[in-house]
Amino acid sequence: RKAPPGVMVIFGGGGDLTKRLLIPAIYNLDCADLLSDEFSVIVVDWAEMTSETLLAQFRESIDDFVSKRGSSAAKLKEENWDRITGNIQYIRGSFEEESTYTRLKEALGERSAVFYLAVAARFFGPVVDLIGSTGLAQETENCSRRVIIEKPFGSDLNSAKELNARLLRSLGETQIYRIDHYLGKETVQNILALRFSNGFFEPLWNRDNIDHIQITAAETVGVERRGRFYESTGAIRDMVPNHLMQLLSMVAMEAPTSFDAEAVRNEKSKVLSAIQPVTRENAVRGQYVSGSFKNGDHAEALRGYRGEPDVSMGSETETYVAMKLRIDNWRWAGVPFYIRTGKRLRCRKTEIAIHFKQAPYALFRDTPVDKLTPNIMVLHIQPTEGVTMQFSAKVPGPSVRLGGVRMKFDYSDWFQEGPSTGYETLIYDCLIGDQTLFQRADSIEEGWRIVQPVLSQQSAEQPPLCFYAAGLDGPREADELLSRNRRKWLPLK
Ligand code: BG6
Repeated sequence: RKAPPGVMVIFGGGGDLTKRLLIPAIYNLDCADLLSDEFSVIVVDWAEMTSETLLAQFRESIDDFVSKRGSSAAKLKEENWDRITGNIQYIRGSFEEESTYTRLKEALGERSAVFYLAVAARFFGPVVDLIGSTGLAQETENCSRRVIIEKPFGSDLNSAKELNARLLRSLGETQIYRIDHYLGKETVQNILALRFSNGFFEPLWNRDNIDHIQITAAETVGVERRGRFYESTGAIRDMVPNHLMQLLSMVAMEAPTSFDAEAVRNEKSKVLSAIQPVTRENAVRGQYVSGSFKNGDHAEALRGYRGEPDVSMGSETETYVAMKLRIDNWRWAGVPFYIRTGKRLRCRKTEIAIHFKQAPYALFRDTPVDKLTPNIMVLHIQPTEGVTMQFSAKVPGPSVRLGGVRMKFDYSDWFQEGPSTGYETLIYDCLIGDQTLFQRADSIEEGWRIVQPVLSQQSAEQPPLCFYAAGLDGPREADELLSRNRRKWLPLK
């Protein structure tokens, strides 16, 4: 069904996020006929430019998007593009001046609006204060007003709490849409579909059958042009309380009573609240030093993090983190959740590996129980999208020998998908007022609470920094985190 009429107001609409992702997502929604005929966009930014220059930039990036992400035959649908661009207005003004908001108010009139904060985090508070004080947040029966906030949402537990409290002075919780782009990924949403629409996974999904769970978000990219931002952020803040905690909560939560936003978010928040704050001995912080990527016969040299632009020579910022987490509840007591994420690793791969317990008894003389192929189910989030299961089978032949085999479901074999940014679902959900895929204040705070002990550089709790060569598997210490309990990470390849 089409979203109701409304305006998407993008603060910081002249920036990269808008060009690369938001405008292509809006275009895709229009192509899917999910936008109202009365949908329009207002871009608010301080940059000196005309609507024409802005539109020319949008055109360049949509052409790029269609050619890169579409099939080779894909062409821009001019009719949809014209409709979108015919309804884009540019308001130039400072995010911190009331006059910008009074002009915006005039432009909006009584129409419903989604205010998208595609601005640096330091503006979140001021922008929302001004949306509140100028009356832009006021809803009526026929007019909704919602705010989408990008990450980073705070930089530790206290700042996240302060930001939540500040937003709630101008907005109701039902008006706040805290985005985590991982929740827009099809494969992430599929975790719940897989668990709760099939009969045979959920009965095994517990401490009786699962030995441990590994969650990996490995990247090959370094910090690129984001050195300044990354120096004060690091891998823990950048990925753990948000993206990895979202993945973890979807794997570990109880079945909600319905798919209503509150029912789902209650369960996610409940499981996060059962996770113990991570301790120093259960966390590994790493930083990449120079290394190389193997590319066929030749190797591409990679510089170390400290040699990246805008990074200090003696930087102590981590670009990799691994943690062992404990969930204290009936379903998961005694089942460790190992998570790891890092830049400049061997391959790009986000996946969740459920390691099942071994068969209890060695029936096959030639294969002792500890040599059986481990039963692992892997949920592949990206770049491959699908599920694989690994188990033992008899090797053909007269003697009974066992070998490891794999069964694979690949999304692309079953479903045809158009090119997508991952933002389509999130923008659409906000337009129709569905908060299921957005983070509630309590979940955000739980995420920070879990990592808080290892955040502060002053804290004696913070694990020492280890080093790893760019292009490989991460620090040796992360392997030791598992080998202590005779476990191993699934290889990155
Ligand atoms: C962002 C982080 O939130 O997520 C980046 O700030 C990271 O550092 C990115 O690269 C990863 O997202 P994806 O969708 O590529 O896994």
